[in-house]
Amino acid sequence: MRVLVIGSGGREHALCWSIAASPLLTKLWCAPGNPGTARHAENVPLGALDIAALVAFASDNSVDLVVPGPEAPLVAGITDAMEAAGITCCGPSRAAAQLEGSKTFTKEICDAASIPTALWERFDDADAARAFIRRRGAPIVVKADGLAAGKGVVVAATEQEALAAINAMMDVRLFGDAGASVVIEECLVGNEVSLFALCDGEAARLLGSAQDHKRVGDGDSGGNTGGMGSYTPAPMFAPAHEQAAMERIIQPALSEMARRGTPFRGVLYAGLMLTDEGAKLIEFNVRFGDPECQVLLLRLMSDLLPALQAACDGELKNFDLRLYDTAALGVVMAARGYPDAPQRGSIIRGIERASALPGVQVFHAGTAADADGTLRAAGGRVLTVCGTGRTLGAAHDVAYAAVNAIDWPEGFCRRDIGWRALGPHADHSTG
Ligand code: AMP
Ligand code: GLY
Repeated sequence: MRVLVIGSGGREHALCWSIAASPLLTKLWCAPGNPGTARHAENVPLGALDIAALVAFASDNSVDLVVPGPEAPLVAGITDAMEAAGITCCGPSRAAAQLEGSKTFTKEICDAASIPTALWERFDDADAARAFIRRRGAPIVVKADGLAAGKGVVVAATEQEALAAINAMMDVRLFGDAGASVVIEECLVGNEVSLFALCDGEAARLLGSAQDHKRVGDGDSGGNTGGMGSYTPAPMFAPAHEQAAMERIIQPALSEMARRGTPFRGVLYAGLMLTDEGAKLIEFNVRFGDPECQVLLLRLMSDLLPALQAACDGELKNFDLRLYDTAALGVVMAARGYPDAPQRGSIIRGIERASALPGVQVFHAGTAADADGTLRAAGGRVLTVCGTGRTLGAAHDVAYAAVNAIDWPEGFCRRDIGWRALGPHADHSTG
């Protein structure tokens, strides 16, 4: 098979690494890729949103399967464009990608399919939204309806904060048209976990559960990020809970999407709150998470490539997707200044040494290589350093041993990845 992966982060490096291991692969490209994907794929200098050029490239090179990593090209309709050119693309159509592209759309699917979720109301008018917030009081959650680069959600502890969010989103239009309408929600309380399923429009297969660490600093302090670390499985989410969530959340969503004539194909990522009343949906994403993908793929026993093909062919019900009974934990190393103003250009050494440790995989994101191979920071999130082990504690120790083997004084990471599962002062290191 001739395969094109789209994107340039740690998620896409992990996808390339996993696909490259398939005996079915004959040629792999990644657009635009990074120095990590270049080890498994030929990088193609085309942006993830340059859809016309990507379709032309895939046609010219007889690509059999396109695997988009990020949400933006999916929401922009890359699957539709590829299919119109006769190329199979493992992701949702533009219509199905509305599960991530629009909060209102997701809420309507939840209501139609009786999927447990926070009570909600949608507003197109800022004054009506303000009146609603004053009536309901805090805590309350305000969400820009459209995509806002992960920044469009405000969990407001006070009424003041919620009103400020309405002002920023609807009056000032901080996120442009994404804030033309907002969803205001009941605030859910509990542990947050993510569930990942590969879907073929009808059937779904579990890819695993994970937990992310959104804040930049230890103890969940500081600004919001794309994610500073992750691990799988999420121990507070037992296999029986995973199964229940597949039945009550993933399957009903697939059925409702199919009923509407917009079946969902690809990776469905359900952000869940484990409340006293059971798991409730916070949001859907229509792709793998980053850095969740990196750890999920480390637990995948089955060949990823035929699994993705089965999702495209509507054959998942006959596909036995297996996971190793192990754990994986990933630590994001970021450039100093991330998430506000990451410093570029510093030299990163020791990745080979770290990668040589047993159970370690280092995935690249914002890196760039000089002509002589010197590796430099070229983005905010720069590496995802992953460890695997029989237990989460063991995976933690492996990952941090690898972090310690990397020589990059201008980089930083959280030292407490996994604390919800392992305890706040987890130190499993044996020295
Ligand atoms: P989202 O961008 O939808 O993932 O939301 C960002 C974060 O806001 C989530 O990961 C949750 O921590 C939090 N959040 C979103 N909706 C709610 C809710 N209804 N109740 C409590 N927390 C929420
Ligand atoms: N790590 C969260 C995300 O990819 O959306």
